Amino acid sequence: MNAIQTTLQAAIQNKRLSVINQRPILTDALDYRAIDQVFPLFAEQQFFLDELQRDKMQGAEVLEIGLGSGVLSVGAALAGAKRVTALEINPRAKNYAGFNIVMNGVEDRVSIIDGQAQVWQPVQGRRFDYIMSNPPFEPTPEKTDYFYHSAAGPYGLDFLERIFAGLDNHLAEGGHAQIVTAAPGNKQEPDLLLDMIRRQLSGTATVLLNPDLMTFDEIMDRLADKEMGPAEEVDALRRRAKADGVTHFHLCVIHYEKGPKRLQVESSKKVYPNYWDIPVPEYV
Ligand SMILES: C[S@@+](CC[C@H](N)C(=O)[O-])C[C@H]1O[C@@H](n2cnc3c(N)ncnc32)[C@H](O)[C@@H]1O
Repeated sequence: MNAIQTTLQAAIQNKRLSVINQRPILTDALDYRAIDQVFPLFAEQQFFLDELQRDKMQGAEVLEIGLGSGVLSVGAALAGAKRVTALEINPRAKNYAGFNIVMNGVEDRVSIIDGQAQVWQPVQGRRFDYIMSNPPFEPTPEKTDYFYHSAAGPYGLDFLERIFAGLDNHLAEGGHAQIVTAAPGNKQEPDLLLDMIRRQLSGTATVLLNPDLMTFDEIMDRLADKEMGPAEEVDALRRRAKADGVTHFHLCVIHYEKGPKRLQVESSKKVYPNYWDIPVPEYV
């Protein structure tokens, strides 16, 4: 091994180098649990990239909200975007994304802008042909301080709600939005998400559901096992979910365009098994 190879080897040690669509992406290791975690890759990123509307991506001005490692922005740039503007609030994520953007040769097409608590503020007055996000969706019991940048309220929908609120104002005519999330509901459908779409979106939405579900309890067990939240708050959230009839989390991709108000729900063609727990393979 020469000196440069040794340096690179040292740089990725204790991190996770995954391969997705034959491209390398560096993230934090699976066991990095601090509040500024740069998310490792799971089925959600693969589902999102499988669902990219490649025809609409050609020459598009793209916005990504929540860049993380940069995996989706890199994917958009490689799929033909003219320019990707990416918002991120976590300084460590911006460092990782810069590394991944350069490593994948798309540095002339992706620019990173500091995110703000007011999600749309950094791109006020701007419109985009393609808006994309894998928003924070971790269901977050009260008084939990893990994954600070990923907390999204008790059912993981709070951040998405803020995205929905600004979509129409930031989509160009004929523009397309694509969002991947894990949404709460009953066994049949993510009814909380579907209600939110009916309330908030005025155009045409299609929700593709991954047929493999995770139960609300499985997700809560995971928080409890890893002591990611105070036990009594995790239990309080379990009781609340029971009372609200929330039993499952559905991994789904939402496609949205301006147009007649319509909501269609379909199963995805591909199944992403046990989506919360199986990471994208590492580079070996
Ligand atoms: C679920 S991760 C997705 C990261 C990456 N896009 C992916 O698919 O792996 C959500 C990201 O949103 C970022 N984030 C949280 N609040 C934000 C805000 N107000 N503006 C921009 N990004 C934000 C988090 O730091 C995190 O990196």
